[in-house]
Amino acid sequence: MDYTRLLAPLNEFVATVRAFADAGARGCNVTVPFKGEAFAACTRLSDRARRAQAVNTMVFEADGWFGDNTDGAGLVRDIELNAGVPLKGRRVLVLGAGGAAAGALDPLLAARPAALVVANRTVAKAQALVERFAASAARLDVPLSSAPLESPGAGFDVLVNATAASMQAEVPPLPPGTLKPGALALDMMYGPATLPFLRWARAQGAVARDGLGMLVEQASEAYFVWMGMRPSTFQVLTELRREVDAQVDAAARAAGAGA
Ligand code: ATR
Repeated sequence: MDYTRLLAPLNEFVATVRAFADAGARGCNVTVPFKGEAFAACTRLSDRARRAQAVNTMVFEADGWFGDNTDGAGLVRDIELNAGVPLKGRRVLVLGAGGAAAGALDPLLAARPAALVVANRTVAKAQALVERFAASAARLDVPLSSAPLESPGAGFDVLVNATAASMQAEVPPLPPGTLKPGALALDMMYGPATLPFLRWARAQGAVARDGLGMLVEQASEAYFVWMGMRPSTFQVLTELRREVDAQVDAAARAAGAGA
């Protein structure tokens, strides 16, 4: 199997994918900022992609494109299996109400937390997202609600940062007490950009985690969509972790040298 990178110009996503599919490819992963366009371009969707309104895994079929979203499944597997934190019965806070947050909600609800709160800078977007998933939440008997970023509630066991704040080296303005001591605080991003969030999380007494495990787990789940088997992730994650930690150390040293 060949799995490589394909650069799509900003205004040529569909044309780029079509040329790739026509050349005999089986499918592709899609990343920022094209997950919404991929969703719109698919003729068949998994339930989780339909509700997320975002596609990160495409399968090229004879009569069209099938779209799936493996991000949330990857996130939940990373939290439960790699970080060792079962979500059932826990209080979970998701920050952000864009595509990244939307992709996470179905699998997070399916893990049956005691409560799931979506907090966003623009609270109306969090409300809209909560409404979209209200029926799923009710079916699973999980209390799902929205909140402003500055007052999300207190005592959460798990925090998932699905905002783009780390891209701007910012940390969402959460009040003290948002997290329980020893809570898990996970940023969906990885690499040097996550350092401010990870430092903030540790200062709150939380266990800080970046999005590298989620990245690897969503890829494993995508492999399952294409090939019908889920490769083990331990070795990939260990090797990638070494590389990313080296990049983070180098960036931290460079920042120190510049200060
Ligand atoms: P994605 O597909 O990666 O989720 P998006 O749809 O653009 O990207 O959503 C970005 C999310 O990050 C939004 O929830 C955004 O908040 P708003 O809805 O208020 O715009 C959030 N976000 C971006 N920058 C942020 C920052 N500096 N602090 C807090 N939230 C931020």
